[in-house]
Amino acid sequence: MMNMINESWMRSVRIQNYGGVEQMKLQVTEIPEPSENEVLIKIHAAGVNPLDWKVREGYLAEVLPHTLPLTLGWDFAGEIASIGDNVDQWRLGDAVYSRPDFSKNGAYAEYITVSADEIAAKPQTLNWQESAAVPLVTLTAWQALIDIGGINQGDRVLIHAGAGGVGMAAIQLAKLAGATVYTTASSRNIDFLKSLGADEVIDYTQEDFSKLEDLDIVFDTVGGETFEKSWGILKKGGCLVSTVEFPNEDLAAKHDVRANFCFVQANAGQLAEISNLIDSGSIKVEIDSVFRLEEIAKAHAKSESGHTRGKIVIQIQE
Ligand SMILES: NC(=O)c1ccc[n+]([C@@H]2O[C@H](COP(=O)([O-])OP(=O)(O)OC[C@H]3O[C@@H](n4cnc5c(N)ncnc54)[C@H](OP(=O)(O)O)[C@@H]3O)[C@@H](O)[C@H]2O)c1
Repeated sequence: MMNMINESWMRSVRIQNYGGVEQMKLQVTEIPEPSENEVLIKIHAAGVNPLDWKVREGYLAEVLPHTLPLTLGWDFAGEIASIGDNVDQWRLGDAVYSRPDFSKNGAYAEYITVSADEIAAKPQTLNWQESAAVPLVTLTAWQALIDIGGINQGDRVLIHAGAGGVGMAAIQLAKLAGATVYTTASSRNIDFLKSLGADEVIDYTQEDFSKLEDLDIVFDTVGGETFEKSWGILKKGGCLVSTVEFPNEDLAAKHDVRANFCFVQANAGQLAEISNLIDSGSIKVEIDSVFRLEEIAKAHAKSESGHTRGKIVIQIQE
């Protein structure tokens, strides 16, 4: 095993029990060792996602079982600090990013071990914090619109919550695919989302998006009433894809549409393509706010408010 660290301990934020923000404790834990197919990453920055506080609360304990204590956080950018014996595609010091395995300890830590085929070179034009804001949300948008939605040039697409982490990535990917993009957001985000390429921003606090009709794809990351009202605005043969609701097959048949839940998968090939799109200026990243590891409770409270613009990031090591 090749190694460039000579310390044994790291700081990490862990939960011992499910519950509120007070369950997250900054602790000193042992730096993990990579297995033969893994690398150890020195984490510079980690992304915060709603997933993190849903896991913290125990809301996902049945669908995503974890062993506690658990390190939260499943988005990061960092550099390779140690390499397992069977790994030959990476070198010590390579700058990478990833959405690591949800079932294992996460990235609110100074180091993480990940499978060598779940990482990609980070975008060269982004700093560590911006890079950490990319993997989970951009993979989600890619898989929802391209893999599930089968988006085509000329499609008319509605992306709910355009100012959220997933929504921002989705607007930009849909424009790159040649779609006409409608999105929902509150008034303070209208100009921002137009600057990302949205053709029409519907202020959901003033207007009803169900005035739209004959859409090819609706991408829902809000759920509830927003999801329910989305069925009726699709054209026959259109596609409803949600990251938060499991669609009912009878309703899909009634509306003559396809409907799928999107559960984001790790995909290093897609991440590498995303790096190229970012470096060529085709996808922009927006940071809502940056916190230190010690401020993790504030970062979660902000994410739980449901009204961030872009991503929350944790600065971990220089
Ligand atoms: N299944 C999966 O694999 C998967 C993957 C990624 C995410 N998710 C889930 O998808 C959801 C979105 O994730 P995210 O990271 O994008 O969240 P986020 O960044 O926290 O989203 C915040 C945004 O939601 C907007 N918003 C809130 N209520 C809205 C409404 N009624 N209509 C339109 N926009 C609204 C807010 O805009 P305003 O401030 O303008 O209201 C804000 O910009 C979360 O529940 C997350 O857990 C699931």
